[in-house]
Amino acid sequence: MKIDLSNKKVIITGGSSGIGKEVVKIFAENKAKIAIFDVNDTEGIELTNELNKSGSEIRYWHVDVRDSNQVSGGVIAAEQWLEGVDILINLAGILSGASINLEDFPDEVWESVIGINLTGSYLMVKHVSSFMIKQKKGVIILASSGAGVLGGSSSYAYGSSKGGVHGLSLVMTDKLSNHGIRVHDILPGSVDTPMKNSQIETTRDITGNQVEYKNIKKMLVEPEGIAKIIYFICSDEARLLKGSIRTE
Ligand SMILES: NC(=O)c1ccc[n+]([C@@H]2O[C@H](COP(=O)([O-])OP(=O)(O)OC[C@H]3O[C@@H](n4cnc5c(N)ncnc54)[C@H](O)[C@@H]3O)[C@@H](O)[C@H]2O)c1
Repeated sequence: MKIDLSNKKVIITGGSSGIGKEVVKIFAENKAKIAIFDVNDTEGIELTNELNKSGSEIRYWHVDVRDSNQVSGGVIAAEQWLEGVDILINLAGILSGASINLEDFPDEVWESVIGINLTGSYLMVKHVSSFMIKQKKGVIILASSGAGVLGGSSSYAYGSSKGGVHGLSLVMTDKLSNHGIRVHDILPGSVDTPMKNSQIETTRDITGNQVEYKNIKKMLVEPEGIAKIIYFICSDEARLLKGSIRTE
């Protein structure tokens, strides 16, 4: 089976690093046209330039997903450049507040994690789906997490934000399927990215538990594997798929 997403018009948030970077690479390899939204401009622009040198069609926009004006302006500009939007993959996110007790939890950490992970997902879907509704088709992937659906998060704010993203994807699935738009949330396990490594290092530094750190570190899976799953979910071959997708 050949999974052909060539010429698809794709917006990828969080594309400068980790899972998002691997998603950008696999879509680029397969000749999709890509708009990256991120705030890590150095790595995002470097990735864009490197892939464009070998014939890819990628443009980078500095978009802070928690800012309504930046999201609406970015989506309008990207839609014009792409000439439509077939796929939104929303991976922008942060994990802060790992292993901090509730009584000491800083309110500003709560606000920034909820702002980027949950409000950012809402704003991206809100602005992109208005174009997809007009086209009567589209695929939207949101980054939820076992941390918000199954439990066991290291951070009160992170687990809560990801539970919210899961809830948002359920509402979106319900409302947008009538318009030909397929919505999924993906729940990656523990993936070897800067975010996950920074969280397990913080937890190790707070708890002093080296053994647990080494055990988790050994079990991290490669982001390329998650990117391949996302690539498949976005294809027509996956059109019968519904709802949340869990991975290692
Ligand atoms: N790595 C894991 O184990 C894991 C597990 C479950 C879920 N996830 C989720 O997958 C997604 C990708 O995570 P990752 O591990 O690749 O992390 P990462 O830190 O490597 O990448 C996250 C990207 O989001 C960008 N970003 C952060 N704040 C932003 C903002 N305000 N606006 C726009 N972009 C912003 C960062 O600059 C970065 O490029 C996240 O939503 C994360 O919560 C990751």
